[in-house]
Amino acid sequence: MSAMAKTYAIILAAGKGERMQANVPKQFLKLAGRKVLEHTLCVFQKHARIDEIFLVINEESRLLVEEMLLSGDFPKVTKILGGGATRRESSLAGVRAVPEDNAYVLLHDSVRPFVSSRIIDDMLEALATFQAVDVAIPATDTIIEVDDRNRITNVPPRRYLRRGQTPQGFRADIIKRAHQLAAKETDVIATDDCGLVLRYGLCDIHVVPGEEKNIKITHSEDLFLADKLFQLNTVSMDPQIDLNRLLDRVVVIFGASQGIGAATAYMARAHGARVHGFSRTDNVDVADTEAVERALDKVVDQEGQVNHVVNTAAVLRHGRLLDRDMDDVRREIDINYLGSIHVARSAFKHLIPTKGSLALFTSSAFTRGRPLYSVYSSTKAAVVNLVQALAEESAPKHVRINAINPERTATPMRTRAFGQEDPNLLLTADAVAAATLRTLLSPFSGTVVDVRRNQDMPQEWIR
Ligand code: C5P
Repeated sequence: MSAMAKTYAIILAAGKGERMQANVPKQFLKLAGRKVLEHTLCVFQKHARIDEIFLVINEESRLLVEEMLLSGDFPKVTKILGGGATRRESSLAGVRAVPEDNAYVLLHDSVRPFVSSRIIDDMLEALATFQAVDVAIPATDTIIEVDDRNRITNVPPRRYLRRGQTPQGFRADIIKRAHQLAAKETDVIATDDCGLVLRYGLCDIHVVPGEEKNIKITHSEDLFLADKLFQLNTVSMDPQIDLNRLLDRVVVIFGASQGIGAATAYMARAHGARVHGFSRTDNVDVADTEAVERALDKVVDQEGQVNHVVNTAAVLRHGRLLDRDMDDVRREIDINYLGSIHVARSAFKHLIPTKGSLALFTSSAFTRGRPLYSVYSSTKAAVVNLVQALAEESAPKHVRINAINPERTATPMRTRAFGQEDPNLLLTADAVAAATLRTLLSPFSGTVVDVRRNQDMPQEWIR
């Protein structure tokens, strides 16, 4: 089969979600600002190899789905199909709608929003060789088989047991045939599609590794876990985003006198951006809301617009909280946390007309408070929380906001706090600057963008 076979993703979303005991089926519950189904669709929409998406729903949710698609975020959804009373019938409705016999078909549960593009890549690669592919993870629990009276009948050896996930991938002719055969029988109970292919012995079914994170949101506990997974979800910036897109964009940087701020200003300028940097050295202290406002107004007076805003200004003070001077603690909060609030408040009104973006800075300490710099780490947790909330508030205006999360970076702030360290163990400010600028250009919003050592960066920036 040619590598260019057309690829359809069929998203099964016709379930009623009875196990969750919520008012709406679980695929329509909201998590991290979007419906579970939207998160799932996003993954397939963004994947370059997916050509079309068929959405299988039940009629009761048609209005909800049509309204969801009005956003225009999912242009790959070309068919909305009515599902059936069972998963098998819903799956059949999707499979039947695939016009070509030589296409690739990926069937996916709508309630698995954490499916990764890596899983999809592996599945499509395997489909070049195999006609059917499943995705599964090792069973960590011992699996027991019981009879109707709840007595154990078998304990299969765990090394051969896997927990099946989705997507499941097929050459279209194989999965169509499996469903045709199943439709001729009565009472075929199938909780997945590979089960049908196996039942009729149509071909070998290859298995690619799944991920623990690719959970199926089934019970209310799963929703809680999924919410936590989204909260801690971080991404790495795509090194392919071309920094030359900054040409003639107006970029405003707070904290631009040194460290990451200075490196970001330098790199943006080198790619043709019109950069305006501010810092305490020119009397723009982010803790001073009016100073921030005036700085941005001045840029708009000069340039007529602002496309991107970055706030790197922060301080890190060491010491046990009980030993610290309260004025000093307040000052740290004012700069690190209120500073981000001031920049966000002032920047938004200027970013609305340009549909621009804003980057704030967090630190790897955001996930857990750090002793001896409790104030710094808690302000950085607050910044992530702020970014998540503001991303939702600003989405209707198409303004994007993200938090950059660099590993320890060689900056004057770090040297002041931790002394001289082995430079090989530190990120360079240039690496962080490149990731920050790419984030500004990316479609992401509400995301924590990890910057790690050894991530790809353009050679010219490795000084
Ligand atoms: O019921 P189960 O947990 O297997 O559901 C897995 C997926 O199949 C869910 O995304 C659900 O919406 C979908 N489904 C369906 N039609 C059904 C039952 C389940 O599309 N009749």
